Amino acid sequence: MDVRLKVLRFNPEKDDQPHFENYTVQAEPMERLLDCLHKIKWYQDGSLALRRSCGHGICGSDAMVINGVNALACKVLVKDLKQPITVEPIRGLPLQKDLVVDMEPFFAGYRAVKPWLIEDKDEKEPQRERIQSPEERERFDDTTKCILCAACTTSCPIFWADKEYIGPAAIVNAHRFIFDSRDGGGNERLEILSSRSGAFKCRTVFNCTAACPRGIKVTQAIQEVKRAALFQSF
Ligand code: FES
Repeated sequence: MDVRLKVLRFNPEKDDQPHFENYTVQAEPMERLLDCLHKIKWYQDGSLALRRSCGHGICGSDAMVINGVNALACKVLVKDLKQPITVEPIRGLPLQKDLVVDMEPFFAGYRAVKPWLIEDKDEKEPQRERIQSPEERERFDDTTKCILCAACTTSCPIFWADKEYIGPAAIVNAHRFIFDSRDGGGNERLEILSSRSGAFKCRTVFNCTAACPRGIKVTQAIQEVKRAALFQSF
């Protein structure tokens, strides 16, 4: 079938403003949008810039705005998209070229919440691995699924408007450790997330939950972090 696409293009060396360009490629209904973008890049215009790696919804490189909605190009099938398919870069991060944005502000927020296991300083060094019950593991299971694609953070109107807001993905990754029974850094992270740029900026718009390609209950995780910050109930 013919697949018509409108792709936002921007070359900082030539263009003042981003603009749409139209393409038509041949694709099977069960092919993914990423396949169509590859056909443009490989056979029509090699200058098209986009990020992708695994092609299977694991690496999180190819989040983009597809027909107005944040999604991974490798997880969206052509048959499910209204044509012409509009493809734009994710919003709220500096545009570098075509579908590629500068991810550094996003990763700065991620690093700020210390996304690693922190030893409890009051606890004696264990002589064997830290045991965790299935129930304790279940407590943060949902937020372990994050692939850092930024679909949630860049769908959030608070993030678009306030560059200081740490964003949903950083809070999701803080949740993953705050509710881990082996972690001793909960208070540290909750202090960071109670700051002006932290979790209380969230206005429960739910865009993040709708955008997450892994089905993480992002808004719920943010609410749990807020409650923990208020009541230290983690
Ligand atoms: S290319 Fe890896 S998630 Fe889509």
